[in-house]
Amino acid sequence: MSATLATTTATTPLLRRDTSLLRHYSLTASPIFRRNIVGVRSGVQTSLRISASSQSTSAAVNVAADASIPKEMKAWVYGEYGGVDVLKLESNIAVPEIKEDQVLIKVVAAALNPVDAKRRQGKFKSTDSPLPTVPGYDVAGVVVKVGSAVKDFKEADEVYGDVSEKALEGPKQFGSLAEYTAVEEKLLALKPKNIDFVQAAGLPLAIETADEGLVRTEFSAGKSILVLNGAGGVGSLVIQLAKEVYGASKVAATASTGKLELVRSLGADLAIDYTKENIEDLPEKFDVVFDAIGMCDKAVKVIKEGGKVVALTGAVTPPGFRFVVTSNGAVLKKLNPYIESGKVKPVVDPKGPFPFSQVADAFSYLETNHATGKIVVYPIP
Ligand SMILES: NC(=O)c1ccc[n+]([C@@H]2O[C@H](COP(=O)([O-])OP(=O)(O)OC[C@H]3O[C@@H](n4cnc5c(N)ncnc54)[C@H](OP(=O)(O)O)[C@@H]3O)[C@@H](O)[C@H]2O)c1
Repeated sequence: MSATLATTTATTPLLRRDTSLLRHYSLTASPIFRRNIVGVRSGVQTSLRISASSQSTSAAVNVAADASIPKEMKAWVYGEYGGVDVLKLESNIAVPEIKEDQVLIKVVAAALNPVDAKRRQGKFKSTDSPLPTVPGYDVAGVVVKVGSAVKDFKEADEVYGDVSEKALEGPKQFGSLAEYTAVEEKLLALKPKNIDFVQAAGLPLAIETADEGLVRTEFSAGKSILVLNGAGGVGSLVIQLAKEVYGASKVAATASTGKLELVRSLGADLAIDYTKENIEDLPEKFDVVFDAIGMCDKAVKVIKEGGKVVALTGAVTPPGFRFVVTSNGAVLKKLNPYIESGKVKPVVDPKGPFPFSQVADAFSYLETNHATGKIVVYPIP
């Protein structure tokens, strides 16, 4: 099992660890990146994803500079709640109008999150926006139009973000799985310069959840943390933020056998095989457990006296608590330097990126609950 990590600086120890993963990744890479991997084999390691970035960047900037905005667009839509089969690719969806505090983004890449599937299944129908729905929270793309009150962005800016401020309460009816999406500027940040649109699309909801969970547990330097589901979209970022941003003294993380190497490469000091070991049998306790799988009942048994458990999903056992992420561009801006320095790396599932025409397949894969890092949709027409 492997996944793609962003590579920028060929001299850092972290990159050296990552290179073995990248070599493995080359066995499973999708055709659009295969020619870049030739660069890795000839020793030009930094070109692996950067080339993809330049491709997507130049394509997108051309859109901003040359193309007028159409009235209708291609988008994935569902008009009723249900399984993957309710998803339809339509070509005559109205391009969203922007409000004064919004920008219109030409979507270059989008990513899936488990909430996209749960929402489509109708699990949040009492607080959802009206059907029909264009799903998708995560976006990376180029600003093509700016509302009258927008201060921080201009046309041709490369941006990324989670388009829905509240994931469950009135999320956007017209999300990111479309050619265009309208987003409040406060939910966005400039895309980090060192990563491509594919990598950027996978970050917003997951990294904002990881950061908000660490803030809510009052995580700080010198504390220890156990991450349950360290190879998932959120957990892969919790490991890195705990270590590189918050100064954890020790990071432990659970994963299945084939993903232990990945969680170690992300900075976990202890990788626990959840298929073989029971966390309650561990000889040590932790200041914080970040439960990104739904095992709060077990998590509360492995914290120190006064320790905290944050649970993203499933039943909550006190003193554990749950929160629902709030999209916030300021969090992305805060973390951008760690991404640009290479300390925090996006993890993109090697089965992707999925082309726009294969969004239903991408959902089916998401719903296996066995993806590694993020499932990204790219290219988008
Ligand atoms: N409350 C919020 O605001 C919020 C925000 C984001 C996410 N969430 C929720 O948090 C959960 C995680 O989200 P995500 O995006 O990180 O999920 P994800 O990326 O889809 O998680 C998939 C990963 O889970 C691993 N996994 C499955 N069973 C496991 C187990 N028993 N122990 C450890 N790992 C296991 C899989 O590894 P294997 O293939 O090796 O099994 C796979 O790598 C979801 O339920 C999501 O809805 C909530």
